[in-house]
Amino acid sequence: MANVTFFSGENVPLEMHKMRMVQKINLHPVENRLKCMAEAGYNTFLLKSRDVFLDMLTDSGANAMSENQYAAMMHADDSYAGSETFYRLEACLQDIFGMKYFLPAHQGRACENIISQVLVKPGTSVIMNYHFTTTKAHITLMGGNVVEIINDEGLKIESDAPFKGDMSIGKLNAAIAELGVENIAFVRIEAGTNLIGGQPVSMDNMREVSQICRAKGLPLVYDASLLSDNLYFIKTRDPRYKDMAIKDITREIASLMDIIYFSARKLSSARGGAILLSDEGLMHKMRVLVPLLEGFLTYGGMSAREMEAMTVGMEETMDMDVISQTPIIVEALCNELLNKGVPVVTPPGGLGCHVDAAQFCEHIPQNQYRAGALAVATFIAGGVRGMERGTLSEQRNEDGSERFAEMELMRLAIPKRVFTYSQVKYAADRIAWLHKHRHMIGGLRFVEEPNVLRFFFGKLEPIGDWPQKLVAQFREDFGDSL
Ligand code: F0G
Repeated sequence: MANVTFFSGENVPLEMHKMRMVQKINLHPVENRLKCMAEAGYNTFLLKSRDVFLDMLTDSGANAMSENQYAAMMHADDSYAGSETFYRLEACLQDIFGMKYFLPAHQGRACENIISQVLVKPGTSVIMNYHFTTTKAHITLMGGNVVEIINDEGLKIESDAPFKGDMSIGKLNAAIAELGVENIAFVRIEAGTNLIGGQPVSMDNMREVSQICRAKGLPLVYDASLLSDNLYFIKTRDPRYKDMAIKDITREIASLMDIIYFSARKLSSARGGAILLSDEGLMHKMRVLVPLLEGFLTYGGMSAREMEAMTVGMEETMDMDVISQTPIIVEALCNELLNKGVPVVTPPGGLGCHVDAAQFCEHIPQNQYRAGALAVATFIAGGVRGMERGTLSEQRNEDGSERFAEMELMRLAIPKRVFTYSQVKYAADRIAWLHKHRHMIGGLRFVEEPNVLRFFFGKLEPIGDWPQKLVAQFREDFGDSL
């Protein structure tokens, strides 16, 4: 957001764009919302988009594109090999990150697959600030282990620490000493972090981790899927970077890393994936997997049009007016909720507003999926689709027991430049209503539970008839309002 002060003194998130293409959305009556939720097996991933009013499931592939991104799509070169589009994207990424090699992949998890296949050997460990679901799945698929060393502050719901995604340097040194360098596949920084509330990582922390990795000869991998938010927070929360250009901050981060990968469904507001690196030997090892798993080396499973949109999207990511949009809306939504007494992760991060289901649904046992139940109730209350980011998103332990998540969150993702302020206020209003009636929310249990990434397509059922009671309460309180 530009530096605009309101005469009223209000702190309004001001959009620095205008909307010239829109999509109609539907708000069904509450009874139909419950019906849709039941048909979706009480899993918000299985709802049909036509039945969702505000889709805050994710920003992945759902960000609004700019007119320049659409325009660029028209001059895509669809040649199977040697496409001009590829060379434009390659030049752009080399310029932004200052790394020599670019390997294309169809999305973020495809990059994770390639990196894990090359670097993870059975029994090795990957040390990281915090895992992401698909990252962990690919590492464990290769027989590797995930070791998380987030600072203790990172797992606190309420905090005023500006960089809650930081790794604990003490825990990093201890993990290296305990595991032995030869048993560590790589060290991974995710910045911003996803599962702990879109919290950023500081430049100082990245520098310290990089120094340790270089001294020990450990590859440092950077998941840059949420880089745009992290850049915004470095610029606004670390006074030393206040006047530095976004591109220079990006270059400084990149200079600390050995491998960078990202989901272009998030970073760059297009749809695709990229791996960047400077080591020629490593590049060759990864490159052979691209035509095998993704597509030829000059498209890697992406459509040429998306690659054009990605190039422009990356250039636009270097613009503070563009990258500030999500964090300021997230902050507005968090503040609306906090003012109404709803517990959320603080300080507000990027990606979305994260409601603390552990407090909100304290009365629901953890094995009845508090955050999943809250996501179900939120959809019934307002047609707002959030995502469970808690125990349901975890993999069970090897003995089949539940692995309880450290945080039970319901994420309300804010895709870039998609929602208006009035829609954000509506979402906060319905969640505040739900908070007042939180004791009515009950638990969930699986009726169909997949072995891998169960949260995506597992089906559940409510324990008791609490959804029907919630609908009746809604009618009592809101009359014939939608
Ligand atoms: N890394 C991070 C930090 C992510 O947030 C994601 C995706 C991925 C990797 C995988 O990328 O989806 O392109 O394969 N996050 C999405 C989300 C799915 O909703 O947060 P992908």
